[in-house]
Amino acid sequence: MVWGLQNRLARIIRPGDGHTVMLAADHGYFLGPTRKIEIPRKTLEPLLPYADAVMVTRGVVRTSIDPDANVPIVLRVSGGASVLNEDLSNEKITTSMREAVRLNASAVALSIFVGAPHEHESLVNLGHLVDEGEEAGLPVLAVTAVGKELEKRDARYLGLATRIAAEFGAHFVKTYFCEPDFDKVVEGCPVPLVVAGGPKLETELDALELAHNSIQAGAAGVDMGRNIWQSSNPVGMIRAIRAVVHDRATPKEALDVLKGGKPRK
Ligand code: R5P
Repeated sequence: MVWGLQNRLARIIRPGDGHTVMLAADHGYFLGPTRKIEIPRKTLEPLLPYADAVMVTRGVVRTSIDPDANVPIVLRVSGGASVLNEDLSNEKITTSMREAVRLNASAVALSIFVGAPHEHESLVNLGHLVDEGEEAGLPVLAVTAVGKELEKRDARYLGLATRIAAEFGAHFVKTYFCEPDFDKVVEGCPVPLVVAGGPKLETELDALELAHNSIQAGAAGVDMGRNIWQSSNPVGMIRAIRAVVHDRATPKEALDVLKGGKPRK
């Protein structure tokens, strides 16, 4: 790995423990003004001090994040379909590598849609993006997207999709947690995996357990959105997630952090 690429990746995945808490906030690129992130600046500002990186589109970077905010940007660079379309897999690269460099992104992210109508195009997009990322020194995050088919999230499917992403050269991969056998998904993917939170779970404890089980199974961290900013206590929630991911807190210990207790360090 070239120095610049390695350096950028180390800004996201902390070298001390190999873990990361990424804040996912790119939902608007196909969902529009998602609940509780209708005004991105308002939602993001209090959370950024606790995020190891934030995943957003260039529109949100430009309008809603101050240039002097010291948070690494993982720039969403694929898109082209909205939630109004049955098939979400028809994506292209929508933001150039040059623009990513100009925005001082620490990584670029795109979705791949394994098994979907536009599987082929999304994988070719990934190959091209990795070539460009290698040239510019920017790591590529491949997101194993499932569109509206949330039931696809089992170990067999996720193992296939994450491995393909790694084989195409993704430097890290975002996927979903699954039970059973998430450890097998991790084992079959030779690059770091970060876990998406998915739709808001019933309780905060459920989301903390998801993060905890992911780390226990070998994930590098989480890239969580709705389960943080749709919580009734978003700052408490991201601090609690940090306690699980970086400080090895149990979900119950992390609940104390959520309720206002001091972080463990
Ligand atoms: C979806 O494709 C987006 O990339 C989101 O970043 C992703 O779903 C993670 O956010 P959440 O934790 O809300 O699922």
